[in-house]
Amino acid sequence: MIEKATTVLHNFNAGPSVLPKEVFEEASRSIINFNNSGLSILEIGHRTPLFQPVMDEARALVRELMRLDNNHEVLFLHGGATTQFMQVPMNLLNENEMAAYTETGVWANKAVKEAKLFGHVEIAGSSKENNYTSIPKNISVTPTAAYLHITTNETIGGTQWHNLPYNCGVPLVADMSSDILSRQLDFNKFDLIYAGAQKNMGAAGVNLVVVNKNILGKVNKVIPTILDYRNHIKEGSMLNTPAVFAVYVVMLTLRWLKNKGGVVAIEKENNAKAKLFYETLDSLSVFKAPVEKEDRSKMNAVFTIDNPTLETEFLTICKENGMVGIKGHRSVGGFRVSMYNALTIESVKVLTDLMCHFAQQHG
Ligand SMILES: Cc1ncc(COP(=O)(O)O)c(C=O)c1O
Repeated sequence: MIEKATTVLHNFNAGPSVLPKEVFEEASRSIINFNNSGLSILEIGHRTPLFQPVMDEARALVRELMRLDNNHEVLFLHGGATTQFMQVPMNLLNENEMAAYTETGVWANKAVKEAKLFGHVEIAGSSKENNYTSIPKNISVTPTAAYLHITTNETIGGTQWHNLPYNCGVPLVADMSSDILSRQLDFNKFDLIYAGAQKNMGAAGVNLVVVNKNILGKVNKVIPTILDYRNHIKEGSMLNTPAVFAVYVVMLTLRWLKNKGGVVAIEKENNAKAKLFYETLDSLSVFKAPVEKEDRSKMNAVFTIDNPTLETEFLTICKENGMVGIKGHRSVGGFRVSMYNALTIESVKVLTDLMCHFAQQHG
């Protein structure tokens, strides 16, 4: 068995990101010999009795973990969440209609840009004026809007919706790429959820879409076959060759999550990690935290140090202590610590101890 390198002990990457050790082990065994078939997972046909149960189990686990009702369909599609920025309005918005979007940062704005290619967009709430350091509170949605789109967690800005607009009066659509399955939500109240797998759910290359089938089929345009959700539903998410290995890694990660006690259990762990991290951050004056406290993300914490020399020094000692992924996104700078499902509280403890030690020396 080839061992994973152990020099990096704590992976705070924003995505692709840390996955459970058990998943790496099982996936690497399956690359050599999948389910004792003598074949690699990379060389089996997607319509074979070897792979079909993988797709079935992955879809069933999503249904179970999210407690979905029978109106909601589970799909694994290609193209990442970025494709959904376009596929959502293509399937749900007519040219002469309007969709409501909230403007909460980099990712929400990319979704707005694509929606404008298909119809009108109303900004139902925005945090642009405070540089996206909060989540808009008083959103206003025109009742005739085709849907309301939110980004439940802004991976770069470090904000997260904690009070979800379930009662917005129109179909609710959410980009959950960076907080999917990290906390209990009333998933059935969403009409469409999408998420790239590469943060909380598995390897890059596949995209989860959960869609209420009753909202489909209402647009009066021709949708290319591969982009029409209804075709994927009809074909059991096997309209064409799925991302076989990526779906397999998602299935393993969801099994791991279920064995841990599901979303209820992981939410407790995520709350404990976020509490430890933010309490430490707030207690150390050398670090600054730009995001409004009530809107802080439990997945991606962003913070800064005013002094560029100290910033570099902090990054260096993080690296020396086996930590990766602490540097903030290139568009905003500073630091970002991603605390996805598979990151252990021990990793957060090591980081917060290091922050305390650093602050003692430089506070
Ligand atoms: C919230 C959010 N939406 C969308 C995306 C884009 O995902 P992808 O790279 O899979 O297209 C990302 C990527 O990090 C993200 O964080």
